[in-house]
Amino acid sequence: MLDLKRQYRPIHDELLDALGRVLETQQFILGEHVAAFECAAEEQLRVRHALGCSSGTDALWLALAAAEIGPGMSVVTTPFSFFASVSCILRAGATPVLADIDPVSFNLSAAAVETVLDGPRGRGVRAILPVHLYGQCVDWTAFSRFGLERGLTVIEDAAQAWGAEWNRVKAGGLGDLAAFSFYPTKNLSAAGDAGLVTTNSDEMAERVKMLRQHGMRRRYHHEVLGWNARMDGFQGAVLTVKLKYIAGWNEARRAAAARYHALFAKDGLSEPGTYPEHGVVLPREMPGARHVWHQYVIRAPRRDALREFLAARKIGSEIYYPIPLHLQEALKGLGYAEGDFPEAERAAREVLALPIFPELREDEQQTVVAAIAEFLS
Ligand SMILES: Cc1ncc(COP(=O)(O)O)c(C=O)c1O
Repeated sequence: MLDLKRQYRPIHDELLDALGRVLETQQFILGEHVAAFECAAEEQLRVRHALGCSSGTDALWLALAAAEIGPGMSVVTTPFSFFASVSCILRAGATPVLADIDPVSFNLSAAAVETVLDGPRGRGVRAILPVHLYGQCVDWTAFSRFGLERGLTVIEDAAQAWGAEWNRVKAGGLGDLAAFSFYPTKNLSAAGDAGLVTTNSDEMAERVKMLRQHGMRRRYHHEVLGWNARMDGFQGAVLTVKLKYIAGWNEARRAAAARYHALFAKDGLSEPGTYPEHGVVLPREMPGARHVWHQYVIRAPRRDALREFLAARKIGSEIYYPIPLHLQEALKGLGYAEGDFPEAERAAREVLALPIFPELREDEQQTVVAAIAEFLS
């Protein structure tokens, strides 16, 4: 599914040098290596502030806390994402309110958000937290209106979307704040857990800096209730090295996605509609979006049987995500039930992520597509 060693080998020396410098300086927590990464990230994403932290999950919480989202307030997000997109809202003390997804992009539907905002759960909503799922930005033309017209804070969950764009603006610079994850499987990845908050607001940036460090601006003077959510020096050093390569890696992912498209089309396996009947429905790059293909996710008939068929041929695949968040045991308290978000529920039954990473070879993709062709026949 993913061979991280292929990325690591060519930059092995550079990474070891960078890690050596951390040892030389003994700057293990925040410090110069994290600061250097933050500067380079600001430049690459074209944002005023980029603030390193301990994980994508903490980045989401920091963004919400910096925007002063807390008890008595609600935040709208998607039921079709990783658990952290919802759990961070609860951790901030607020209430998650869910809206269904767009079945083509799999992203939160702006129209569904509108309906929720005008309904009974919409009253206490202060923020919207859309997720740029699989490496593709949500329809920002629509989402920016929630800020402009309704005065809501819009926070991007950009965990899967380093380098993605909407109308040439990079993810991270679209909303009031954004959260990135550098979990090792992400397009831009650390050698452990790490995350980043971005914002163009000086005031928000100042709050994130305090919050990631126990609410301190001055040592041992705690102004607000923060947490330990700092990035460590080794991660800053690794990420600074990888930042030089990420544009090329994302290009390689785009090329791999185009190859999959061509291979499926050549074999007549792809279907034009939204849902699969006999063939597979391929993922689409939406107008305005520049997709960075964190995942290449098809919809397939008899998805679970297909996954087993591929596994028997030693072809990796994954389901992101098999259980929508409103049906998760831990989130029962939100009061949703099966049937509340039919598109998210259907996606959970049909999606299958195929291997995609920058170093994936064409012959490997041919093997994947040939196996799917055999299954469908
Ligand atoms: C959409 C989304 N949000 C949040 C996270 C949380 O990031 P992390 O694993 O770095 O805490 C992830 C990644 O795992 C994610 O995919």
